[in-house]
Amino acid sequence: MDTMKGLKRTDYCGTLRISDVGKTVTVCGWIQRQRDLGALIFVDLRDRTGIVQLAFDDATEKSIFEKAFTLRSEYVVIAEGIVRERSSKNFEIPTGEIEIDVKDLRLLAKSETPPFEISEDCQTGELTRLKYRYLDLRRPNIQSCIMMRHRIAKIARDYFDENGFVEIETPMLTKSTPEGARDYLVPSRVHPGSFYALPQSPQQYKQLLMLSGFDRYFQIARCFRDEDLRADRQPEFTQIDLEMSFVDEEDVMTIQEGFIKRVFKEVLDIDLQTPFLRMPYKEAMERFGSDKPDMRFGFEIKDISDIVKNCGFGVFSTPVNEGGSVRLINVNGGATAFPRKKIDKLVEFVKTYRAKGLAWARLIDGDITSSFGKFLTEDEMKAILDKAEAKDGDLVLIVGDVKNDIVFASLGALRIECAKQLDILKKDDYKFLWVTQFPMFEFSEEENRYVAMHHPFTAPMDEDFELLETDKAACRAKAYDIVLNGTELGGGSIRINVPEAQQAMFRALGFTDEDAQARFGHLINAFKYGAPPHGGLAYGLDRLVMLMAGVDSIRDVIAFPKVQTASEPMTQCPSTVDDKQLDELSIAVTRREEAE
Ligand code: AMO
Repeated sequence: MDTMKGLKRTDYCGTLRISDVGKTVTVCGWIQRQRDLGALIFVDLRDRTGIVQLAFDDATEKSIFEKAFTLRSEYVVIAEGIVRERSSKNFEIPTGEIEIDVKDLRLLAKSETPPFEISEDCQTGELTRLKYRYLDLRRPNIQSCIMMRHRIAKIARDYFDENGFVEIETPMLTKSTPEGARDYLVPSRVHPGSFYALPQSPQQYKQLLMLSGFDRYFQIARCFRDEDLRADRQPEFTQIDLEMSFVDEEDVMTIQEGFIKRVFKEVLDIDLQTPFLRMPYKEAMERFGSDKPDMRFGFEIKDISDIVKNCGFGVFSTPVNEGGSVRLINVNGGATAFPRKKIDKLVEFVKTYRAKGLAWARLIDGDITSSFGKFLTEDEMKAILDKAEAKDGDLVLIVGDVKNDIVFASLGALRIECAKQLDILKKDDYKFLWVTQFPMFEFSEEENRYVAMHHPFTAPMDEDFELLETDKAACRAKAYDIVLNGTELGGGSIRINVPEAQQAMFRALGFTDEDAQARFGHLINAFKYGAPPHGGLAYGLDRLVMLMAGVDSIRDVIAFPKVQTASEPMTQCPSTVDDKQLDELSIAVTRREEAE
């Protein structure tokens, strides 16, 4: 193998242009491919900036030409040469007008044939790619996601610093608290039987920093949650986390809008209009069936309960008369795109959201075909279609249920499903929205009690404080989420800052005062020493990069992500450990995974 001695990189491969013709340059990287045309050899050399063509011909020194002949994909080389204009240009790549007439070439490392092709459109399955993630990360599309992530994090640091925020690191080994997702636990060696928890977020620490007077804090913080994975969820993920003192909801939202505006301008050169739309949770649910509505399209939910409550069709009238509702969406232009077979699939689709069925009407060439027309009067049918604002070419879909949350969930999901099938969701159409006034509590069937919808440190709305005791379901919080194209990008709230109110909140969540003291005493006690009014927010950095990069999975924007089973295919963690290690930690394993 050669050494680099005497050669030093002068340029990155992808940066050379026609204006560099005549310049002597040294480039290094990996061989993308070698084309041997007999008297000519062309080699595509790749680094993180792109590809440049190295050229070897009859004017090339013989030993160099022979070396070029031996080059294979993914070999690592350094080459010195003179930039010259290509005789046949490739306008598809930025360096396509030039090539390097190579004068010196050193082979720095060989490579075995990689298990998949290092290319943008590699079709190899994700599991294999993740097993060799270090090779997968050579692919330009994955590299550009990681580079974009770096840019966004850098802009966050700059922006928050310029706006008076102080970056402070909070601990990774923390106290396990029962609210929220499941914790990842870390056993303590020196305190046998005791455990740390990896932080689900820096929430309590950042609030304490406000109490300490730092006024504005931010951190690019790693968080850990042992929850079921999805395309936009990882067990460890990163938040851009911040907290501010002496502020209300509007102050927090405004500073965030400034950040998002700046990131989009600097990274994508997109000018976003601020302020973003704000919408109370209740309205979001009623119009879009979701607390994270995708605002790129309409198909809004409309209530037809009044029209059908006395109709002769029990499927419609019964839910209304038993406390539920009947609602519809109008899939504009969906009539011909959804023939019967596809509608049957939609019926199955809503059943996964616990809807009992789906009624439909299609308007084609002045004709109305529907699954329910024969059960209604002409007037009732007309009133429904008027409410839907249905025109020729539209598809109206109706769900009724005694449980309103089933109606909202199924129509909300259906709305998205139809938009996807119609292919009207454009990734580069960015529609932001703040959802505000979230409910303070949600009822957990699993725990058979009310739990905090955001977290137990969130302040109730001033006018709803009494409802903490009298009507939990109606109590609203000073909580807000920032939503982009149907994804929850971030969430935050104004916090409780007086100990009595915090205690009232824990009581409302079913904790005895002793229990609350044992688990959250540090916070309740701290609040006795003068906590300023404060609030904040955390973005999922991974989700932000995913949406800005236009990819479908956050795994594509994380250098070494975990797969569905929360394991990492490359290092194969989690893994068993030695008995000695367990013994030191005073841990006895009572159950092991069955070997596959
Ligand atoms: P929350 O739990 O809403 O709030 O989280 C904030 C944001 O973090 C991202 N996120 C995730 N990203 C990837 N994988 C996950 N498993 C995951 N879970 C959450 C989401 C989410 O909007 N401490 C509060 C914030 C605050 O009140 O200031 C918090 O953590 O984008």
